[in-house]
Formats: sequence, structure tokens, C-alpha cells
Amino acid sequence: MKLTIEDVRSRFIKHFDGTTGSVYASPGRINLIGEHTDYNNGFVFPGAVEQGMIAEIKPNGTRMVRAYSIDLKDYAEFSLDDEKGPSATHFRYIFGVCREMMALGVPVEGFNTAFAGDVPLGAGMSSSAALESCFAFALNDLWGDNKIEKMELAKVGQRTEHKYIGCNCGIMDQFASVFGKKGSLMRLDCRSGEYAYFPWEPKGYKLMLVNSCVKHELAGSPYNERRLQCEHVAEIIKAHHPEVETLRDANMDMLEEVKAEITADEYKRARYVIGEVERVLAVCAALEAGDYETVGQKMYETHTGLSQEYEVSCEELDFLNEVAKEEGVTGSRIMGGGFGGCTINLVAEELYNHFKEVVKKRFAEKYGKEPIVIDVVIGDGSRKLC
Ligand code: GLA
Repeated sequence: MKLTIEDVRSRFIKHFDGTTGSVYASPGRINLIGEHTDYNNGFVFPGAVEQGMIAEIKPNGTRMVRAYSIDLKDYAEFSLDDEKGPSATHFRYIFGVCREMMALGVPVEGFNTAFAGDVPLGAGMSSSAALESCFAFALNDLWGDNKIEKMELAKVGQRTEHKYIGCNCGIMDQFASVFGKKGSLMRLDCRSGEYAYFPWEPKGYKLMLVNSCVKHELAGSPYNERRLQCEHVAEIIKAHHPEVETLRDANMDMLEEVKAEITADEYKRARYVIGEVERVLAVCAALEAGDYETVGQKMYETHTGLSQEYEVSCEELDFLNEVAKEEGVTGSRIMGGGFGGCTINLVAEELYNHFKEVVKKRFAEKYGKEPIVIDVVIGDGSRKLC
């Protein structure tokens, strides 16, 4: 069921004595291709989805934030001037965003808030980035005269992950949430920050997410370790090729050259990333030519790389990928950080309903429960609803 303003407002009124405030929304995201490339300064190709977070916010004239999570039925209060902040993760996102906006000079004041989301948690669709971006956008509107640039709002969310949650993520998720545009995917160069909108109108194809419902959790996961491995390889290559700052600048020959100086795992991780940076560009060219078969083939290559070289897949995701291949789906791969969550599938329209049924049935036969199928609709980025 789609989350509405009313769902949030009715709870806000209940919890905060019949008052109402301003309502903001920010979406989750998909990513067509370009996984684990953002923190290697490469390219990503995300788009915002219709599902997201909605928050109602009203200044309360104090230095306290009073926050109610509608989904988790959990309430917390914290002071904006506290250094440590709340311990529950869902409130730490809000705390981190407040503190980072204040560090940018935004004179944030205390507020009451109730918030809810319809991005499935742990599905690799960036529910946390949606929450961060929602509050970053809202605080900029309420106290910052909208003077903070959108890219900086995305970075506020990213810094929140790094400093308050412990996940050293890249910029893709927060970027997609803030910058999303209905009907368009976006190609972002994570080094320069340059981006372009690509209208997503594939003739004869649709995107489908299949949620394995294996919950992924990036904080404290091998995600940070992968990032360190990539940075280490880049450092070693740089000693031979000073122009190489990150794996984005490296190529397979350079990697071969340093093979003896790095571990076997590091070699595999870097091979995946260098290949993925090239695949994003190949997909852009294929899209411009309307060549969806190539787009799909690259998606399968990404899956293989994520599974065998980057090693962020799991049995259930590999099974979903296998079923897609056997059923003749054009492209399929793990989406997001991995370790669970969804596959993203590029499916020919005539196959769409058939694949939906088959994938549910076959997964249920093997794992005892149906995966959740989500039809992808590309939606707008952070915005004020009322
Ligand atoms: C998570 C991170 C992103 C990105 C993806 C993998 O979603 O938050 O920054 O690294 O994983 O592409």
C-alpha cells in the first residue's frame, strides 16, 4: 500500500496534541548499473523510486527534537546540543543530519516530528538515505532558507552514515534520493559530481525488483572492508602510476602489474570494480543506441562479478539470478550493497507477468516463502508535500 500524507499526519496530530506542521518526502532508489563504484570515484546509474520516507515536522520553540517513528512505534527525545545523541539507529539518522546541518551553519531549532516509510527495510533500496535526505531537505527549507546546495544535502546524509552510523558508504544513495526526477535515471560521475538525467522509456521492457527478503545490513558488514581493500589496491597501483588516485583511474593491465603485491581477495575486488566502471559506460552507450540486449548482458556480468569477485551475494540472490537467466529475462543482478536485499531485472514486457509468477513459485519451493516482487516506477526526489 502506498504511504500517504494522511498516514503521517494523523499520527502527528495524535502524538503532538492536535497540531500540524510541514510535510516532506524523499525516495528510495534503484540502480540500473554501477555497484560499489561510487566510493571508487566511478560512475553510477540510479533513479529514485515512488516509495520513500515522509516526515511531518513542526518547530517546538525549544532545543529538543521529539521524534516518533510510526513504523517502529518508537519515540525518542534528544537535545540538538548533545554530543552523543540517541542510541537507536533510526533516531541517529535524524540526529546526525541535524548536527551536520548545524555544522554547515544552518540555525536548526528544536522540532516535533513523526515519520514513516514504504521503502522495504534492508532491501537494498536505501531506506536510510531516504530518511537522511528527507530531514536534510526539510531542515534546509525550515531553517536554512534553502541556501544549502542539493549536492551538499546529499553529502550531509553521507556524512551521517560515516560519523553516526559507522557505514563508510559512497554518495549514490543520498544523491539519488535528493536529485531524483520522475521518469528519469541519472548518471553520476562520483569524482566530479557531474550528472545527467536519462529519460527511462525502454520500449518493450520493464524493470522489476525481486526482494529475497534476506535482510541486508551495511553498518558493521564487510562493506567497509571492501572499501578498504579497494583503497589499498589503488594505493599500490599509484606507487607505479602516480596518476591513479582511485580504482576509477586504473585498468586491468595496471592491476596485473601489481598482482604479486596484493592479496588474492584484493585482486578479485579490484578486478570487479575496474570491470564495473567500464560496464556503466558500455550501458550508457547501449541505452543511447536502444540496445537493451547489451544492457541486460552487462547486468548479468555485474551479477557474476558481485557474486564471485566482490563476494557480496548470498545463495538466495544467486538463485534469483539463475531463475531469471533460465526464464530468458534480458538482464538481472544484485542491486545495492549486497549481502541480501533485491535483484533488479530488465524484463521484456511479454515475459513480465510470466516471470513474476515463476520466480515467486520457484523461490517459494526452495526457501519456503515467496519473494516480494516490486514493479519499478521512477519517481521524484526530495520535496515538500505541504
Ligand atoms: C550501498 C551504499 C552506496 C553504494 C552501494 C553499492 O547502497 O550506500 O554508497 O556503495 O551500496 O553500489
